[in-house]
Amino acid sequence: MSTIHTLPYAEAHTRAVVETGQDMRPASSLGLIAVASGKGGVGKTWFSITLATALARRGLKTLLFDGDLGLANVDIQLGLFPKRDLGHYFAGAHALPECVTEYPAGGFDILAGRSGSGNLASLAQPRFAQLIRDLYELSADYEATIVDLGAGIEAHTRGLAALARTCIVVTNDEPTALTDAYAFIKVLTTHRQRNDLRIVINSAGNPTQGQRIHETLTKACREFLRFEPPLLGVVRRDGRVRDSIHAQTPLLVRHPGAHAAVDVEAIAARLAGRA
Ligand SMILES: Nc1ncnc2c1ncn2[C@@H]1O[C@H](COP(=O)(O)OP(=O)(O)OP(=O)(O)O)[C@@H](O)[C@H]1O
Ligand SMILES: [Mg+2]
Repeated sequence: MSTIHTLPYAEAHTRAVVETGQDMRPASSLGLIAVASGKGGVGKTWFSITLATALARRGLKTLLFDGDLGLANVDIQLGLFPKRDLGHYFAGAHALPECVTEYPAGGFDILAGRSGSGNLASLAQPRFAQLIRDLYELSADYEATIVDLGAGIEAHTRGLAALARTCIVVTNDEPTALTDAYAFIKVLTTHRQRNDLRIVINSAGNPTQGQRIHETLTKACREFLRFEPPLLGVVRRDGRVRDSIHAQTPLLVRHPGAHAAVDVEAIAARLAGRA
């Protein structure tokens, strides 16, 4: 049985997905992987792109969905001008699969957002329910679907996170990032099963520092939520991340030996090992 059928998440849009019936994805699929943070600017989009590249390099058919609707994070970081994006889908001109863009340089497909098309929060409930139904269906064609979420903890962002089999919460060592990561974990765990929630510490000085940051976060979760979200991995701070974003090229293509690239590859290997 798929995770989605057992979600205790009560909101209407998630119920709508549950109603779609059987899980169409192969058992080997990683399903949907949401990348969340609470606080903005901690590296969700960069991490999502790098993870998509790493999973594609491991041979998994991968889709990257820009869930930060209205801001088009992914195509800007990659310098893409997709022929179709979510704007076309929302305009009713095309079905969701028709809005997918191939990204040969990264080896994966992208469902791009559109800057200025209005944000996720302003999407009416029935349209959001349809979107997640369509996204869930589309994910059946892939072995991994990564959903790059926007900042914040509003209902639709939580809805997308709840749809995912795995929710990765990304944070760095800044107190505001940790506080917001905790807030995100708290709202998510009050609505859904907890076992698929994993932490990525980004921009850490070194692996030991990253583990210490994770311990700080788990201490709060243990005390107040009686739950310890496991560490999926630590990604080191790396100047070549900025360079690759400026060059609008995936880090794994431009600097495959960079510490941050190696760290994300290790995370991809861990995720793929669970498939
Ligand atoms: N491991 C890292 N090492 C160095 N710099 C990093 C690292 N990860 C992210 N960054 C920097 O953080 C910046 C913000 O990253 P990104 O846009 O992916 O964040 P975000 O969480 O998606 O932001 P938003 O919430 O606004 O969507 C990047 O421009 C990059 O320079
Ligand atoms: Mg982003």
